[in-house]
Amino acid sequence: MINNQFKHISVLLNESVNGLNIKSNGIYIDATFGMGGHSKLILSKLNNRGRLIAIDRDPNSIITSKKIINDNRFLIKNSSFSQLQKFIISEKLVGKINGILLDLGISSSQLDNSERGFSFMHDGPLDMRMNQTIGQSATEWLMKAKESDIAWVLKTYGEERFAKKIAKAIIYHNHCSLKKPITRTKQLAKLIEQVIPFKEKNKHPATRSFQAIRIYINNELEEISKLLKDSLNILAPHGRLSIISFHSLENKLINHFIQTHSRWSEFLIRLPLTDMELKTIHKPILKILGKIKPTVKEITENPRARSAIVHFAEIL
Ligand SMILES: C[S@@+](CC[C@H](N)C(=O)[O-])C[C@H]1O[C@@H](n2cnc3c(N)ncnc32)[C@H](O)[C@@H]1O
Repeated sequence: MINNQFKHISVLLNESVNGLNIKSNGIYIDATFGMGGHSKLILSKLNNRGRLIAIDRDPNSIITSKKIINDNRFLIKNSSFSQLQKFIISEKLVGKINGILLDLGISSSQLDNSERGFSFMHDGPLDMRMNQTIGQSATEWLMKAKESDIAWVLKTYGEERFAKKIAKAIIYHNHCSLKKPITRTKQLAKLIEQVIPFKEKNKHPATRSFQAIRIYINNELEEISKLLKDSLNILAPHGRLSIISFHSLENKLINHFIQTHSRWSEFLIRLPLTDMELKTIHKPILKILGKIKPTVKEITENPRARSAIVHFAEIL
């Protein structure tokens, strides 16, 4: 279902696009089209020789794009951004891309649509796939996963202290009780609420578990790692990365990537080098351009922006 009743306010819109330092005749990539807010702003800064390639793994975003953008400088693909490099190779654009924008996670239109199963605030099928036509839903995974795997996901991707307790309760509910298996968002949220012994201020007890399951179901961290690595081949000299992240796991991954590629191999500080080290030696290929957080005004107008950070880097 696609319904424009679900609105999305683009986060750090001007900051993230300004950070790309757009050349009006350049070629840019919006790897997370969503509802197209960032794409529209990028297009407004290009002349008739500029191009924008957009990607989204959610087929609904592609339908939205057809409704809101009719521009022959614009092309959109329904794909995961981990597959971007293949497309860029096929288009013979390797080393020619002037900037890549990533606005991670899900859009409000996905979160607020109960049929997508991302939110514990709305009751709906526990799905959580960004592309509902491929892969397993959260319900399917919870039905066949081992207790230790569920606990690992909740701990690793949700930093959930009560991961083991929650996993045990899910397995008991699905396989050992006479209750109906967990297939609805509210069912899971309620179960977690009953298991967690106390409430954090201003945070629903299911927040961390829902984040963890969503990250796992959509393979989110592997997707980001692959795109970051590929960006080093895809980008032109002085090409820029502008990446909006929303939680600490994304931040760690992005910071580590930018820092690793912006300095000499660490072992150079202790010469002489072994043959192995000589083979893997690398000099800086990225320049760190800093980070920006939303203003208080933006957070007041759009609470979804509260944990956002945009990270910038440039190919040397
Ligand atoms: C936060 S929204 C982007 C919002 C957009 N910048 C706007 O202004 O409307 C993130 C979008 O990225 C998509 N997405 C997330 N991970 C993706 C991936 N690995 N590959 C492709 N699209 C992805 C989601 O489906 C979602 O539509």
